[in-house]
Amino acid sequence: MIIAANFKTNHTRGSTKEYIDKLNDFISPREIKDKIMVFPPFTALDNFEYNNITVGIQNAYPVKNGSYTGEIGLEQIEEFNIKTILLGHSERRHILNEPQKLIAKKFQFFAEHEFEIVYCVGEPKEIRERGFDAVVEYIYKQLENIDLNYDKLVVAYEPVWAIGTGLTAKSKDIEEVLAKLRSDIKAPLLYGGSVKTSNAEEILTIPNCNGLLIGTASWNVETFCEIIEISKKTAEENR
Ligand code: PGA
Repeated sequence: MIIAANFKTNHTRGSTKEYIDKLNDFISPREIKDKIMVFPPFTALDNFEYNNITVGIQNAYPVKNGSYTGEIGLEQIEEFNIKTILLGHSERRHILNEPQKLIAKKFQFFAEHEFEIVYCVGEPKEIRERGFDAVVEYIYKQLENIDLNYDKLVVAYEPVWAIGTGLTAKSKDIEEVLAKLRSDIKAPLLYGGSVKTSNAEEILTIPNCNGLLIGTASWNVETFCEIIEISKKTAEENR
């Protein structure tokens, strides 16, 4: 399983360091088989030394360097030995209006540089209300020009209406979407959207679910560790 924490615009440089130290203290003495990822904000990036925690970047511009005010490129990321990137997150698509064309360009650029790419897809509420076929059509548009056979790909299904709202998709709905994605994608499939300690186990046992992308509930390190513990127990129970 992959258990990932998306900090979004939360945490400072200081609190991120504290968080990662605590997370490492939690993981180190335990036999955690899951891959643990953390996506801090740009300002908190550093050369974190723990090899049991993968630190990734929430976004970047598809260039090595250049004149792109307010953006960062490969040169700034490589300074911290970061090789994992989150792309296509719904907040970038819907709040920052990032078009599919640009997302695909980013995908291509970072794939060429052999980044592990956590690629997010998910439908807004009005599409979900139209039913499964509409959801599939919408999600597949978000996969346009994305190499689904890329060997460092991870896909996260995150229904927009479930992100940061406390609403989680029904297990049956998640299962249907993951099964459809699985028919075309061999890569790990994550679910994201109001994952918390109370629903993590149920979501982790959905067929084809290979992990969780967690926003709000990950910002507190104790809660994130609790979810890691739940994943460990769930895996042991379902062995
Ligand atoms: P949430 O965010 O857990 O707060 O719903 C998930 C995400 O945006 O990745």
